[in-house]
Amino acid sequence: MLDENGKVKPDASFPEGSLIVKELHDKENSLARYAILYKNTGNGSADSRGWVWGYINADGTVSISASKKGSSCINCHLQEGNIDYTLMNKFFP
Ligand code: HEC
Repeated sequence: MLDENGKVKPDASFPEGSLIVKELHDKENSLARYAILYKNTGNGSADSRGWVWGYINADGTVSISASKKGSSCINCHLQEGNIDYTLMNKFFP
């Protein structure tokens, strides 16, 4: 999964139960939303790779529901250089 430098290997596939949370900050640099990727294959909202996609506001309310199945996320996350639909290694190598 990770190489000797702690980077995700290009051919990696995140295991079941993986949870990735990204903080999104507004212009004043305060925490606005959390972006969530959760690998949960059996979930009714999961995509073909088992990822559940969603945004949660800093106050805990739902911003983009998982029931949308990542419809506003996946096109961008499928871009060349993605690893199992994740992009951090492409933009922060
Ligand atoms: C216009 C392109 C774009 C769209 C749309 C987009 N993302 Fe991302 N996302 C990125 C990029 C680029 C990164 C990696 C750089 C970073 O972390 O800021 C990323 C990183 C992430 C990460 C951290 C894991 C990773 O892939 O590196 C999560 C979690 C995430 N996005 C969730 C979502 C969710 C959920 C949605 C839809 C509600 C979404 N994103 C929509 C471009 C996008």
